[in-house]
Amino acid sequence: MQIFGVDIGGSGIKGAPVDLDRGDLAQERLKVLTPHPATPGTVADGVKEVVDHFGWTGPVGITFPGVVTGGATVRTAANVDKSWIDTDARVLLGERLGGLPVTVINDADAAGVAEMQFGAGRDRQGTVIMLTFGTGIGSALFVDGVLVPNTELGHLELHGHDAEKRASSKAREDHDLSWEHWAHRVRAYLAHVEMLFSPELFIIGGGVSRKASKFLHYIEGIKAEIVPAQLQNNAGIVGAAMRAAKEA
Ligand code: BGC
Repeated sequence: MQIFGVDIGGSGIKGAPVDLDRGDLAQERLKVLTPHPATPGTVADGVKEVVDHFGWTGPVGITFPGVVTGGATVRTAANVDKSWIDTDARVLLGERLGGLPVTVINDADAAGVAEMQFGAGRDRQGTVIMLTFGTGIGSALFVDGVLVPNTELGHLELHGHDAEKRASSKAREDHDLSWEHWAHRVRAYLAHVEMLFSPELFIIGGGVSRKASKFLHYIEGIKAEIVPAQLQNNAGIVGAAMRAAKEA
């Protein structure tokens, strides 16, 4: 079975039909740049461009980089325009897509759901935490394979700052940090999350998962196992489609 997945990120809106049996993209994905300001209207246009490109007419799962409740309502918007807050994104995006059935899920939750089923978290019991490092830091918490949604661990306080402002992938680029310097910040962040949840496994996702060899070896002294995501930057698209399939 195929369902369409779209991942709305701080820098790009990416999407493709997803093969749900394989947990992989069924066709090469299309990416358009996230508009700035990233308002509901401009982002919906970007989502439409991606979905229309494939001539898709079935259900669509869409990630959003903020708290999303009930598969629909946006509650926070740290890295996109604040006018998203309290919108019914399911209705807004569904209307823009000409009435296609739409499900919306937090981006990190979607990535985590995909990794738990098809990637680095497969068959893992106990507490598993997926962290995505990109424009912000996203988190997905699983207990015996069950998602606890909208955990927002990227906004924990780290040395007096919002953690994602210090340790996201964007922070590394903005402050021109070496991989080693950035990895020390990530280490401090993981130590803090470990103190709170004592997970068995951390899965490191986002664009940096492709570059794990540049920084993972600098992260020492964490008791949990730490592995890069296997679906890499497609996890959000796959997880969004999985969620939409559940509701279709
Ligand atoms: C948002 C999260 C999101 C993460 C990654 C954070 O700023 O609050 O909801 O998962 O960025 O995009």
